[in-house]
Amino acid sequence: MNKRNIILDCDPGHDDAIAIMLAGKSDLINLLGITVVGGNQTLEKTGRNTLNLCQYLDIDVPVCLGSANPLVKILEVCPQIHGESGLDGFDFPDLTIDYHNQNGINFIVETILESKEKVTVVTTGPMTNLALAIRLEPKIMDNIDEVLLMGGSYTNGNVTPAAEFNIYSDPEAAFIVFNSGLPVKMFGLDVTRKVMVYQSVIERMEKLNNKASLLFSKLMKVFNENQYRTFGLEAGPLHDPLPIAYLMDKSVVELSWVHCDIDISRGDSYGRTNCDIFDYMKLPKNTFVATKVDVNKYWDIIEQGIKNYN
Ligand code: BDR
Ligand code: CA
Repeated sequence: MNKRNIILDCDPGHDDAIAIMLAGKSDLINLLGITVVGGNQTLEKTGRNTLNLCQYLDIDVPVCLGSANPLVKILEVCPQIHGESGLDGFDFPDLTIDYHNQNGINFIVETILESKEKVTVVTTGPMTNLALAIRLEPKIMDNIDEVLLMGGSYTNGNVTPAAEFNIYSDPEAAFIVFNSGLPVKMFGLDVTRKVMVYQSVIERMEKLNNKASLLFSKLMKVFNENQYRTFGLEAGPLHDPLPIAYLMDKSVVELSWVHCDIDISRGDSYGRTNCDIFDYMKLPKNTFVATKVDVNKYWDIIEQGIKNYN
């Protein structure tokens, strides 16, 4: 089977870490590189976390630092969920690997232009790097087959009543991507809130007993404690691996083809992904939005992703 070429753009982040783990060793994915953005923590921290993850999991791909800041807004990090380091809960050995010698935005542009086959861009953080790459070299869009993003919500937000963290962190960047004409698939809170890392899930993955399962269980325990303290949730929603899981088995979600508008008005709904699920407005459709998730299948995919490290 042909492997899908992907660039993963992320801001680790506990759930980004599991997305990296899943994409890093798969028969179905050719991970061309990881680009990093400021989001859950400062770029310096999300970058270091990415290097730590790649070194620990033996994922030998270019890691490039992208934008430290959103296009217009001031960066607002999220230590309440991800801790001061951005990835609290795991002690990594000293770093011996380093960043690829190229800025993340240039890496996205050059990698996509040079690729013989189309590239899928998966974003699990603010969409700043991809928006800048599109503005820098619009020709890349001819060689992107689709953009998969964890972000947004057509129901409720998690930062404001209206907005989800990744889109709220850089609404203008999301606006550029959603209006670029590229095929966009949105995996938002509507579905990721259904995949909760209950204690039973942690125990199931712990039984696999390898370095990836150790990472999963240590990170998810801290993630859950922080979700409980911040939102009163019994378990945390494991958002970011969902678009990667979709690349492995498309039947893990159901998608609807809708018009989606990013609110950049700076009003109460700033950063909302306004998805016209019922097609009230009869506007041109631009987004596939995930409306259902098969929770059991998702955990099976995560389990297989951990087993790939045996
Ligand atoms: C998103 O926000 C971040 O905190 C997570 O890593 C995830 O990408 C969920 O709203
Ligand atoms: Ca993230």
